[in-house]
This record gives sequence, structure tokens and C-alpha cells, in this order.
Amino acid sequence: MAQQVVFITGAGQGIGYALCRAFAVQGAQVALNDSDPSKAEAAATALNTELGMNQVHAYPGDIAETDSIRALINRFADQAGGLDVVIANAGITRYIPFLESEPADFDRIVSVNLRGTYFTAQTAARSMIADGKAGRIILLSSVVGLRAFPNFSIYSMTKAAIAMMASSLALELGRHHITVNAISPGATLTERTLREDPNYEAGWSSVIPTGRVNYVEDVTAAALFLASPAARQINGQNLVVDGGWTLASPLPPEHPHIPEKQDYA
Ligand SMILES: NC(=O)c1ccc[n+]([C@@H]2O[C@H](COP(=O)([O-])OP(=O)(O)OC[C@H]3O[C@@H](n4cnc5c(N)ncnc54)[C@H](O)[C@@H]3O)[C@@H](O)[C@H]2O)c1
Repeated sequence: MAQQVVFITGAGQGIGYALCRAFAVQGAQVALNDSDPSKAEAAATALNTELGMNQVHAYPGDIAETDSIRALINRFADQAGGLDVVIANAGITRYIPFLESEPADFDRIVSVNLRGTYFTAQTAARSMIADGKAGRIILLSSVVGLRAFPNFSIYSMTKAAIAMMASSLALELGRHHITVNAISPGATLTERTLREDPNYEAGWSSVIPTGRVNYVEDVTAAALFLASPAARQINGQNLVVDGGWTLASPLPPEHPHIPEKQDYA
């Protein structure tokens, strides 16, 4: 990743923050975007201090504001000499029962997760094409785009659409030597998921075939791979990183052939 120029959205905390760290450690110049300006500045400073470098740059802005995300990505690409990788990671996760969902909930979640991701990718692709870059576009989908989950209808629909977005864009951008792929993390331990559920790690570990939740490094490893030369022929895919959670469907509890958890391995 040395010399790579990488823009990552929604990176003030959680998976996005870990992605910035992972690419910076590899020597990349990284733009750290977040809608919360103080969070973006603090996160960039924390990473530069921890890593003893000055390669992480705060680019605060709301990705749902198309003009704003366009200006941010173009400014970073101009300053850094052309964009190699964009990771559309920003997303809002809201548990809302279907019967209680309001149009405002729908519009905000779709604006950030879907429209924001789409125009982040479009702006990056235009910049890569203008600069002749064989770029990489990575979109954050989710396992709940593959398996229905209670009280998650709006969020899950956006994540399912993002997987199709990766395939659709891949088809159009391949001739420009740009690949587009999605990553679908399963349950991932972050400050947010731990705050929402103090029992998150133990609870999820008990229903995942590998017997463990994702750590953020499991997701960053997938992104580093998709951005690497080794992945140049992987295009339009949805890489599921979930320890196998999406593999199984519910079975009756008394079914004679249900394996014990340790048998999964
Ligand atoms: N954590 C998980 O278990 C998990 C699982 C599957 C998928 N994902 C996906 O991975 C991505 C990151 O998840 P996370 O858990 O680290 O998220 P998070 O909620 O912990 O952090 C998201 C960050 O994005 C920022 N953000 C929110 N709206 C924004 C906007 N409009 N513009 C720019 N920044 C904005 C927030 O301020 C926050 O810092 C999301 O797309 C999420 O849907 C997460």
C-alpha cells in the first residue's frame, strides 16, 4: 500500500477508524472522513500520534450531502496526486420496528447508507478515470443484507442494495481497470456494538460457527486484500466476513442431526 492514496468515509470510530489505521501502517496516505468534525480531527491526530507519522488527514463532512462528498474527495485527490482506493464505510445502524418506522427514518438511513455510498463511489471513480488510476472501490455491506434481522428492515434493505451496487458498478467500471467489491461483516466488536450490548462478544460468539465474533482486524484484512495487487481479478463480489454465521438456517431444537457447537470446526 506504500504510495497509495486512500479515502475512507465514516472513520471517526469503529471499523472505519481501524481501516484508516491498517492502510496507514502499510504506508498509504489516508483521508479520514467523518460527519462529526471533532471526531474526525481527534481520530486523525490519535492515529498519527500512535503511528509516529503524518499520513492520516482529517476530511470532515456528511456523505449524504453529495456536493460535500464530491468536494472532499476531489480536494484530497488533487492534494495527494490521484486516488487509488476509496472505502465507502460510513453507515448508520438503526433498530426500528417496521410498524413504527417513519418516513424521516427511511429518508435519513437511505440518504446516508445508499445515496452516500453511491455518490462516494461515483466521485471516486470519476477521479480515478481522470487520473488514469486502476483504482479499487470497496463498499461496506453487511450480513443483514443477506439474512433478515428483526427491527432492521430499512438498514438491511440498504445493505442488500449495496451488494448489488458493487456488482452493477463493477460491470461498468471494469473497462477502466477499476474494481468494485463489497465486504459484508458479521457481528463485529466495536465501541458502538459493545456499548449497545455489554454481552455482545459472548452472545454472538455462541451462535457463530467459528465460536468468535469479528474483531475489526478481520474486516481490515479483507479490505487490504481487496485493495492489493493479488485481488486484481476479483470484481463485483460480496466478501462475507462472518465466521460462517450466514451459512445456517434455523432448525427445530429437537432435530437429531444438529451438531454441537464444537463440531462446526
Ligand atoms: N459493527 C458491525 O458489527 C457491522 C456489521 C456489519 C456491517 N457494518 C457496517 O460497517 C460500517 C462501519 O460500522 P461501525 O460499526 O464501525 O459504525 P459506527 O456506527 O461505529 O461508526 C460509524 C461512523 O460513521 C460516522 N458517520 C455517520 N454518518 C455519517 C455520514 N453521513 N457521513 C460521514 N460519516 C458518518 C459516525 O459519526 C461514526 O463515526 C457501516 O457501514 C456498518 O453498516 C458494521
